[in-house]
Formats: sequence, C-alpha cells, structure tokens
Amino acid sequence: MKSKQIRKEFLDFFQQRAHLIVDSAPIVLKDDPTLMFNNSGMAQFKEFFLGNGTPKSKRIADTQKCLRVSGKHNDLDDVGKDTYHHTMFEMLGNWSFGDYFKKEAIAWAWELLTVVYGIPKDQLYVTVFEGDREDGTELDQEALDLWKEHVDEDHILFGNKKDNFWEMGDIGPCGPCSEIHVDIRPAEERTKIDGKTLVNMDHPQVVEIWNLVFMQYQRKADGTLVQLPAKHIDTGMGFERLAMVLQGKTSNYDTDVFQPIIHKLEEISGVKYGASEKTDIAIRVVVDHLRAVAFAIADGQLPSNTGAGYVIRRILRRAISYGYRFLGLDEPFIYQLYPILKAEMGDFFPELIKQEAIVTGVIREEEASFLRTIEQGLNRLNQIIEQLGDSKVVPGDVVFELYDTYGFPADLSRIVVEDHGFTIDEAGFETEMAKQKERSKKATELVTDDWVILDDSGNEKSIAYDNTEAEVKVTRYRKVKNKKGEFYQLVFDQTPFYAESGGQIGDRGVMISPNETIEIVDTKKENNLIIHFVETLPENIEGSFQAKVDVAKRNATTKNHSATHLLHEALREVLGPHVEQKGSYVGDDYLRFDFSHFAKMTEEEIAIVEQKVNEKIVEALPLIEKRDCNMDEALAEGAMALFGEKYGDKVRVIRFGSSVELCGGTHVKNTADIRLFKILSESSTAAGIRRIEAITANKAIDVLKKAEQNYHEVLVALKTKNDAVKAVQSLLDENAALKKQVEKFLAQQAAAEKATWKAAIREINGVNFLAIKTNLDTNAAKQNAIDLSNEIQNAFIVVGTNDAVKPSLTIAIAKNLATERGLHAGNIVKEIAKHINGGGGGQPFLATAGGKDANGLDAALKQVEDFVK
Ligand code: ALA
Repeated sequence: MKSKQIRKEFLDFFQQRAHLIVDSAPIVLKDDPTLMFNNSGMAQFKEFFLGNGTPKSKRIADTQKCLRVSGKHNDLDDVGKDTYHHTMFEMLGNWSFGDYFKKEAIAWAWELLTVVYGIPKDQLYVTVFEGDREDGTELDQEALDLWKEHVDEDHILFGNKKDNFWEMGDIGPCGPCSEIHVDIRPAEERTKIDGKTLVNMDHPQVVEIWNLVFMQYQRKADGTLVQLPAKHIDTGMGFERLAMVLQGKTSNYDTDVFQPIIHKLEEISGVKYGASEKTDIAIRVVVDHLRAVAFAIADGQLPSNTGAGYVIRRILRRAISYGYRFLGLDEPFIYQLYPILKAEMGDFFPELIKQEAIVTGVIREEEASFLRTIEQGLNRLNQIIEQLGDSKVVPGDVVFELYDTYGFPADLSRIVVEDHGFTIDEAGFETEMAKQKERSKKATELVTDDWVILDDSGNEKSIAYDNTEAEVKVTRYRKVKNKKGEFYQLVFDQTPFYAESGGQIGDRGVMISPNETIEIVDTKKENNLIIHFVETLPENIEGSFQAKVDVAKRNATTKNHSATHLLHEALREVLGPHVEQKGSYVGDDYLRFDFSHFAKMTEEEIAIVEQKVNEKIVEALPLIEKRDCNMDEALAEGAMALFGEKYGDKVRVIRFGSSVELCGGTHVKNTADIRLFKILSESSTAAGIRRIEAITANKAIDVLKKAEQNYHEVLVALKTKNDAVKAVQSLLDENAALKKQVEKFLAQQAAAEKATWKAAIREINGVNFLAIKTNLDTNAAKQNAIDLSNEIQNAFIVVGTNDAVKPSLTIAIAKNLATERGLHAGNIVKEIAKHINGGGGGQPFLATAGGKDANGLDAALKQVEDFVK
C-alpha cells in the first residue's frame, strides 16, 4: 500500500466513526512556553484535557507533523544510526475528549490494524501498564480485560512507568497507555525466537507502532497525580513505521516516504545507499533532516541563533556536516533534494508547494554559509595544530570554542586532529560542554508551580478590543521562576489587557484595590489562558480590582499595528503578490515587518511604499472589523491566511479600505489616527526575507523635526538661506579642483625626487642598489620604485616612507635580477617590516609593508643594504 493510501485509510476509518478530521497544527508552537515544537499529536489539544476550552468536536483525528529534537522527547542524536527513528515524523492520531474511552479505542485500533491494514494478528503484541508504587497507580485491569477480548493472552505484556505511562512533559495531562508492537522478522526467525522477548528491546524489526494513551491524570508540579475532571483518549501511530510494515520493508527508509529522496541524494553524491554503514548513516541523516528543516521553514521557523530557530539551524548543520564528511559533498546540496520532497508530500501538505522559494533559498544560503564555516574552521584547526609544537594534544577549550563560536562540529575536529596523529583533550572538551549546557539550562529554566484555582467556572474572557479598564477578579494564580526572576501569574475573570500575540506586545498597566496598586509588567497567552505577570501577589487576592491598561503605550502600539497592515498591502502593490508576511514585532516604540522578497528594495521602492502608506493615512479610512467570521467568508473577502499560523474556527477580519487581514491585534478606529508613517531601515534577515523597521505618529514626527533641524544647521554652516544642494555642489566642485591641483603638485614632486633617487643608485656586487627614505606618500613612492626597477638594469630599490598616515616599506627588484638570483621581495619585506612593527608581503619583484613605528625605518633599510652586500 502506498503511503498516501495508508494515511487516507487511517483518516477515513476514523471519519466513518464520527471523528472530525482536522489539519495538522503547525510544527512550530506559539503561545506555549513549555514546548518549542509540536512533539506529539496531542500537543495542540492539551488544554482540552485539562478542561480549559472546548474542542470543535468530542472526536477528532488527524496526522500531525511532529519534531522530537528538544525537551522531554529528543531523538536528534540517534537519528540516522538506526532505521526507525526520525526528527520529523507524522503521527496519526485519534482523540476522544470526554467521549469514548478504553473500550472503543482498543477495539478500533485492533480493527484498523488487523482488518483494514491486514497485519497478521500473530505478529502483533500489546502492552498494559503494570502500575507504579511510587505514584500510587495500579495495574490497568480495565485495559487488560478489554485487550483479552481481541488478543491471545500470550501476546499481551506488562510494562512499567517508563514504557506504559505517557506524559507530555514534566507537568500536565498524562495516563497509562497500551502500546502496540509489530514483529516483522522473517517467519523462520519468528519461530526460532519468540517475538514477545524482543518487545521494547530496541530490536529494529520488533517495533512499537501505535500508542494508545488513556488520559486520566494530571501531573502536578510537586510530582503527585490528581484525577482529571474527565477521561480522554489520545493515540499516536508512527506513520513512517506503519508504512514500513505495510510495504513489507525492514527499514522506514526503504519505504516510498524516503526512497525517492534517497535516489536523488545518490544521484547528487554518487554514493549508493547500501554501499557502507557509514555512508548509509549519512544518507539517512540527510534525508531525515531535510524533512525536519523543510517543514519547519515552511511553517515560518527560520534558522537563527536563538530558541527554536537555533534548533533548526543545528539540525541542518548536522545534515550538512554528515554530507561533507561521509558523502564528499562540499557544495550546497540539501536544497536540491527539496523538489522531490515537495512532489511526494505537497498534495497533502500544500505549504510545501506554496513556500518552495523561501525554503530552498534559506536552506541553500545556510548551507553555503556553513560550508564556509567548515572551511575556516579547518584552516584555524590546522594553524592550531602547527602551533602546538611537541604537545600532541589539542586543548578541549580550543575544540569547544571552534564548536561554540563558529559552529564547527567537534566530530569534524576529532577527525582532522587524528589525521595529523594528534588527539583531543576529551575531558577538557566535555567540561566546557557541560558548563555550556548548565548556562543554557539556566537561561531557559522555567519552574512553574501548580495553579491555585479560586474560581473554576472556566469563563475567563478577553475584553481587550473594547476596553482598557475593567473591574476584575483573579480566578487562578501561580508562581513561576525564569531567568528574569520570580513572578506571579494571574488570570482574571475578564481582562482588558491584550496578551502578546501576532507580533503585538502584551499590555502593561496596573491593578488597583482600595488598599494597594500592583503593577502588571506583561501579559502573555498560554494556550487558552491570558496571563498577567506581577512581581508581588496582591494581599487580598480574592477581592475585586480595577485593572487599568497603560493607555499611552497601548495607543502607540495600536497605531503601529494598523500601520503594519497598510505596509503589508503597500509592499504587495509595489513589489508584487509574492510578498508575504514572515514575522513581525509591533511595540509602542516601533514596528518591524519581515516579508518574503528576493532582492534588496531600491531607494525608490522604499519611498513609494512609504508614500502609499501615508496616502492611506490621509484618506482617513475607517476600521471595519468583523469578529467571529467564518474562515471561508474571510478568505472570500480577500484576507490571507499565513502558513504556520493556527487559526480557530472563527477568525477576526480587519479591513482598512482595500487592506484585509486576519488579525487578533488591536487597531485604530481610523487610519488618520496613525498620523504619519516613516520607514527607518530596510535590510535582510535570511535568504529571501527582507525586514522593514518603521515608526509612526509622534515618533515619526519627531524624526522629521530632527531632520529639519539638522537641515537648518547645515544651511547655517554653509552660509546660505535656502539652497543647500547648490551650496554643497559648489563646495564639491571647489574641492575637486583643489584635489586636481594637489595631485599635479605631488606628481611634480615625485618626478623631482625620482631624479634624485636615480642619481643615488650605487652598484653593489652587480646589483644597482638604492635604499632611501622619503616624505612622498606611499603610492607615489611605490610608483617611483617600480619605474626605476623597470628603467634600470639589475635594479634593487627599497624605499621607506614616512607620510602623514603611517610608515611603509616598498621593495622593487628588476624582474631578471629577482629570477636569476632567486630573490623574493615579498619575503624580504616581511622580514624587515618587523622594524616598523608591521607586516606585508607581495611578489618576488614587488612587495610592500605597512607599519606603526617610523623610528624603525632606518634599521629596516640598513638590513636590506647589509643583505645585498
Ligand atoms: N501522545 C502519545 C504519544 O505521543 C500518543 O505517544
């Protein structure tokens, strides 16, 4: 069965059982400080298990793009070494939110695998949770009894907490699970060794394919378990492993999910899959990582130096470095595999088609730049090895620095070092690595206490669009600790505070009660909750508060947000419809807008875009806002959905004239409120991504005022009333005329000196030698030396200059003399430059050096003279 069909059968099966089929959530998570990437199908639903919010349907199924490269579930370092782990994989899942439980989940899983997919029952094993004394949990008798209805008892195994109790993270919803394993060894091996003994033993052909989690607990911050308000089902099946089983293969990489990409890589590298274990690992690493990186970039996560972007960069670099080391690929190659991935998966994941230009552009540029890094790292390492002298051990901190500062992989250092017969101080390297891990752990550390719930009605709502002030009550609070310190997080029954999202910063402000005023320093979203950050907990936490947003900040931010929409539209008009938003920051201080476009904008384009935005401001376009709009309706109105953004059932449409956007931010009532829009800069952030920074309103007016004032000062300095351009032009003309005169004068001086130099040439040992000091500038002196070395037989000229800038030395030797006597001006100048505390070099017959200490010129000249003598 083709993989496309396998995916379809899964979704059809659950659709027929009243499940709503939803799209995969973006692979990169927003609004969730506990998780960088989607690492399982349930991540996008986890709040529903906790009872915060209601899902679109009580039964849902999908295939979810997952990435297990950070946090609790991290497979990165193993990927490639075996044949069944991946960084990015698809997880097929079905969910029940307080609806069906173990009975149906178990029966359906069994039916799908054995009837629809036709996997022989005797090759399947299931596991049941045995209980855990520490947690106070018992054997999952219910699951055991249900399995017995379908499965022979000797195909049921018991598992401990490690294998049979599923938790997404350190805290949160969790529960016992039943895993389904499949034994795909050949029949004769199966009769020899019982498959049962190989379950969960890392056997590549006895692997887990499906995990059925029975969500019934919540893990609290203190480690204890409490029952969830309702019971849920969360299942996850590895799509690539299922394909391996159904296609009769013994490696995920032999399925049609990977084979076409592998073929392309074989073609590019000239290395056949199967040629050797080392090259096979490299091939698996590359084709696996291509998928992780491509899907992440298509969902809007560009490689960068921090956070999720850094993880993506590391994955890509791992692939590049495997290609470089084992497949001999020293030119960008990964981007060339992308068209195959797109052709194979683009129909189910259209983002791969839509984002092709960005994905390939970014990957290619990252590759080129990392390959340069490898080149530089190799040079640096060779230098270090040269300098080590007798010690045959490269210090660990040197290897670490190469890795940490330049991104040069330690594995590569090891190979190069070993090639020279050296070793690395591994212990020293490990110490540095451990220190760094500790540093980054500290930087990302987030310790969260459990919520203290004051009101569990779950009706917390935002009223931020229409209010900046309201009477509120705290419904829940908790303490959190991160690198910035200790905070309390509060949730209100209703809040006028806008929570950071869609690029717009969170509101700040105060909460006031008759006896205290507490500052709210930030507002953020976490899944479905709006969280207010405070440094101290209110004394009377159960009382009522007047929550007041800092209106000046909010208004400034709002203006910038509306301006961002106008900017987006203007960019599409001026540059073309390929322009798409790739990220933004909307603060009270300025706005930043990243968008796809492949060339630097010209001055003229920037000016036109700015002009267009200002025209919309002058047109005084009223805000037309539609809340609770259906997605179809919104798209029909001309709004554009962004890839990597997760939209709810209902969306909000913001229209100013012809600018239509799906947006959750705050906006001005009329574009005239923005007053003025001024672009400060246009730059590049990654291949194919440009960035505009701009300001509005008072900030923009201040900038113009300042510019005007500067202009006024220029007029005064130029002693003119109004035409600065004319005045500057006449200054420039005057300057050019003076420059010409000076040049002429210098040329005369140089010619005069040349005559003197010529007369001073002396013959020493058949060499017509001149060593001379001059005040001519370096270029004129050099020209004289060259001319003399051409005009005079066997000339050897060395000149030291001491012009106003810095001392220099030039050596010019007649070509025939240099060749016959084996002289090398470059080497000589290098040697004598030491006298003037400088360095230089050049060819055998012409070389120059610059220095810092003019006092050494005489000694330098003397050394050459001695040499010639
Ligand atoms: N959430 C479960 C898993 O990822 C299904 O294994």
